[in-house]
Amino acid sequence: MATFRIKRYNPEKQPEPYYEEFQLDIPQGATLLDCMNQIKWTLDGSFTYRMSCRSAICGSCAVKANGHALLACQRQASHLVKNGDTIVLEPLGNMKPIKDLVVDFKPFWDKIDKIKPYLQPKTRAPEKERLQSPEQFKRIDDSSTCIMCGSCYSDCNVLEVNDKFLGPAALAKAQRFVEDSRDGKTHERVKELSKPGGIWDCTHCAECVERCPKPARPFDRIKEVMTVALEERVTNNTGARHAISFTKSIKSSGRLNENTLPVESVGYFNVKGLFDLLPVGLRMLFKGKIPPILHKSIDDVDDVKRIFMEADKE
Ligand code: SF4
Ligand code: SF4
Ligand code: FES
Repeated sequence: MATFRIKRYNPEKQPEPYYEEFQLDIPQGATLLDCMNQIKWTLDGSFTYRMSCRSAICGSCAVKANGHALLACQRQASHLVKNGDTIVLEPLGNMKPIKDLVVDFKPFWDKIDKIKPYLQPKTRAPEKERLQSPEQFKRIDDSSTCIMCGSCYSDCNVLEVNDKFLGPAALAKAQRFVEDSRDGKTHERVKELSKPGGIWDCTHCAECVERCPKPARPFDRIKEVMTVALEERVTNNTGARHAISFTKSIKSSGRLNENTLPVESVGYFNVKGLFDLLPVGLRMLFKGKIPPILHKSIDDVDDVKRIFMEADKE
């Protein structure tokens, strides 16, 4: 017997959401979705959520269970029981609830649209299909597995504070076209993706990788797009300059030069950006937090340099 503590919301009846508890004997081997269905079919027919395939294929049953997004049809309910007997169910995060566990996916789809999720080949269509080698397909295989469930979008920390961020799903989808051998707009794509709200706004927390029910692993795909952006020399932006400055510093001395990093990140000729740094710099100075100009050299710096040499060779 478990308690399902469910966040209910029906603005037609009550403006504020509330929690309601249901007791259910979890049948042997039942998934979380099976239990949600039992609650709906036997205890409260008004309980509302999305579902379709029951096979972790359609992506529609994503909800938050005990604070984290997952596919309800992919998880054994008994594995989710917390504190002895409770499972807390809530709607996905970073999207507006419509009713109970159903959220408005419009911002999610708008961002997918923004990355132009279709091939833009350079050449005219051949008579038959455009072929790819198995190696070329391998580069986009993982991102192709995305089922658009929104779990990553729900739990992305950046989206909580910046709704302009494209988000993990759209960026993983973008990688699928950036690295597609049949696409002819790689440079234009990474240029667009390097603007504010794009790849460089990701904070590398990897939460999206934890939540993704498929091998799409959005953060890994974001890193791949970052790499292509640097290879394409799309570097006139804070994120790329930050990555380059960081690498240069570690490569040359084995340590991070925190004095030059912020300046090199905003750009030496970016007068406004440099002025924006001033208040933080001054606060750090007065609080005695400015890093020393001269660091003592680190032991075994040659080992660090050798790692970079090996990586460069790769
Ligand atoms: S790694 Fe980036 S995209 Fe993924 S959840 Fe964290 S901030 Fe969001
Ligand atoms: S990347 Fe993973 S978590 Fe995000 S929408 Fe696609 S399948 Fe779902
Ligand atoms: S019902 Fe389709 S993924 Fe769960």
